[in-house]
Amino acid sequence: MIQWFPGHMAKTKRQIIENLRLVDIVYELVDARIPFSSRNPLIDEIVKNKPRLVIMTKADMADDSLTKKHVSTFERQNISVVVVDASKNLNKNIIFDKTKEILSEKIAKDAKKGIINRPIRIMILGIPNVGKSTLINRLVDKKVTNVGDRPGITKSKQWIRLNPSFELLDTPGVLWPKFEDQEVGYKLALTGAIKDDILHLDDSILYFLDFLRTYYPQSLINRYEIDISMSNLEVLDHIGKKRGLIKNNEVLYERVYDVILNDFRNLYLGKITLDR
Ligand code: G4P
Repeated sequence: MIQWFPGHMAKTKRQIIENLRLVDIVYELVDARIPFSSRNPLIDEIVKNKPRLVIMTKADMADDSLTKKHVSTFERQNISVVVVDASKNLNKNIIFDKTKEILSEKIAKDAKKGIINRPIRIMILGIPNVGKSTLINRLVDKKVTNVGDRPGITKSKQWIRLNPSFELLDTPGVLWPKFEDQEVGYKLALTGAIKDDILHLDDSILYFLDFLRTYYPQSLINRYEIDISMSNLEVLDHIGKKRGLIKNNEVLYERVYDVILNDFRNLYLGKITLDR
């Protein structure tokens, strides 16, 4: 897990801005369960006017109705967005078609200048755990990739040929998450974007229980066979006792937290989106 210090953040930003000059478009990855909380706080300042496609990953884990709503929110801000599930069947064409659409003017301009069939160069950006490596692996078609022996490419910047029309910078830009906002912190901890013990896990779990009560009460009731009138502490005790997570008559709360986190991350509570 990366530790972010001011110096490290400044250096990361500098390197990313340098790499941005080499690409035609940026893919900004966000987690569909927290599409706003998983954005880097300086993303607009970093990307500036470079064409951008927001890719909402992990759509298979998110609440479909909210995903639709969040897509509209991005679109209202004139940000192009696609929704993907990279865990199973990634539909690459959704991404490639959208990319060509975003760059259509540039492609037409290039064609007028006689520049034809120059591959579009892409860079992936996002905070840890949004699915950057997973997406890269899915986009790369092993059969056409041959990174090593192409001429004119320095060792430090490797371009992966995805197909005749697209090239991807092999290393994604890893950006730091938002730190300032407590609620965002809980969401990042719950989804695994930041280490659970960075923030007190107690607070994240209590936040999550309140969140479930408000927005997904039936998931809470069905999964843990609780009465919704129980307090959060009673809920934790109930789960601990049912699962036998008890030592010397004391509920092992850390273990109960793990149960709840695993249930959320493995969809046993259903598809849940934390950004409303
Ligand atoms: P990163 O490079 O941005 O840090 O993220 P990475 O690709 O490592 O993905 C982080 C975790 O999210 C991985 O799970 C990965 O499998 C999962 N993931 C990425 N995209 C999707 C998606 O579209 N849907 C779902 N359901 N999961 C996705 P992990 O538990 O850390 O590893 P593993 O157990 O899957 O190997």
